[in-house]
Amino acid sequence: MSAQESRILAIIGQGYVGLPLAMAAVDAGWTVIGIDNFEAKVAQINSGKSPVEDILDNQLQTALTSGSYRASTDFSTVAKASVITICVPTPLDEKREPDLSLLQSAATAIAPFVSNETLVVSESTSYPGTLRDIIIPTVDSLKPKDSTIVYFASAPERVNPGDPVWNQKNTPRLVGAIDAASKVKALAFYESICDVAVAVSSPEIAEAAKLLENTFRLVNIALINEFAQLCAASGINVQEVIDAASSKPYGFMPFRPGVGVGGHCIPVDPLYLTWWARQNGGRAEFVETADSINHAMPRYVAQRALKLVDSSVTKPKVLILGVAYKSGVGDVRETPVTELCQHLIAQGADVAWHDPLVPNWNDSKPVDLFWKCDVAILATKQPGMDVGHLIKQGIPILDCTNSIRNLAGVSSL
Ligand SMILES: NC(=O)c1ccc[n+]([C@@H]2O[C@H](COP(=O)([O-])OP(=O)(O)OC[C@H]3O[C@@H](n4cnc5c(N)ncnc54)[C@H](O)[C@@H]3O)[C@@H](O)[C@H]2O)c1
Repeated sequence: MSAQESRILAIIGQGYVGLPLAMAAVDAGWTVIGIDNFEAKVAQINSGKSPVEDILDNQLQTALTSGSYRASTDFSTVAKASVITICVPTPLDEKREPDLSLLQSAATAIAPFVSNETLVVSESTSYPGTLRDIIIPTVDSLKPKDSTIVYFASAPERVNPGDPVWNQKNTPRLVGAIDAASKVKALAFYESICDVAVAVSSPEIAEAAKLLENTFRLVNIALINEFAQLCAASGINVQEVIDAASSKPYGFMPFRPGVGVGGHCIPVDPLYLTWWARQNGGRAEFVETADSINHAMPRYVAQRALKLVDSSVTKPKVLILGVAYKSGVGDVRETPVTELCQHLIAQGADVAWHDPLVPNWNDSKPVDLFWKCDVAILATKQPGMDVGHLIKQGIPILDCTNSIRNLAGVSSL
């Protein structure tokens, strides 16, 4: 059977996006090769141990034992695939600008093995033009001579790790293809996995839509973080204000204040937008301001927490509860708790942390909830994290998660 007739999917990158996609594709009847250049991760996956919370070990083991899934470091195996999706990280560099080196190296690594009539899709988040200006020229210049036709599309992943409702199958998928034939192939592929595939007129529309979605979240979080500080300065409970505003049945969407923004998406993707705006001679000033407001939150939270400590304590002991960037995951990438710790330490505090989903963080180990402290900051409410003991001990808690209401000793942001 030629590659184009196969129902073999190769996914480049087996992380928070690639591995759940692999399992969704297996469920839809595809045979999946999960390629990753991190050998230890490939070995872990092939041993049946999932590296991401959304995929349970037994689901992975079933896929492995049925022969419909295997992880590999061998890029030449993409030659068997009729569809190749790229799901590698698109982080920021040290100047906080787009770093497409991993995407570029993934495209370079697959190119010599792309079979004729294969569909290549980028699911990685990036600025408009990435598929057309970077991925396509790379693949076209390095592909085998007899691979005269390669189809291309951009279909940015929207998965929300830890979400009990929305997943790869039931989240509508945007598909922006480079031409009519690619659109037919890409829609057929995503319709085989997702309930709904939404065709848009170009890859750039899909890429820009993804940036808009995450920038929308960033600016609304910044708005509520600023608003929370204004309310706190006037002694008004911002959570109650948000609840009140939420009673309006249209035109309002509640966002909650917090320690800041974290993860691979919300703090990162909007900076792809600001960079892209500058390349085109413009400026996304509103987004830049939102980014600054969110970045100032950890300092504000540190100050608020230390104010809860008796002034006679010279070196306050602060327990941070939850260091992952959001509830339900052990992912600490870009977590605002890193900056929170730095501000607390700079202000003379002795800091420890507890997170049932994070075994190690910043070269340190978690403490238990009985660690003797002067104040606790609930930064991320992890499932099963019971703060009852701290409350019983009369330890003041600053709740940044809106999960403890109306309890003596608990202040909310
Ligand atoms: N995590 C999310 O919630 C989320 C949601 C939507 C979109 N995205 C986007 O999806 C993309 C992937 O994100 P992720 O969270 O899955 O990242 P991740 O770090 O969890 O996984 C990426 C994997 O790719 C591997 N990798 C890196 N470079 C490679 C290369 N050149 N060849 C092969 N493997 C390589 C890494 O070893 C890693 O296992 C990013 O663009 C991200 O912005 C992420």
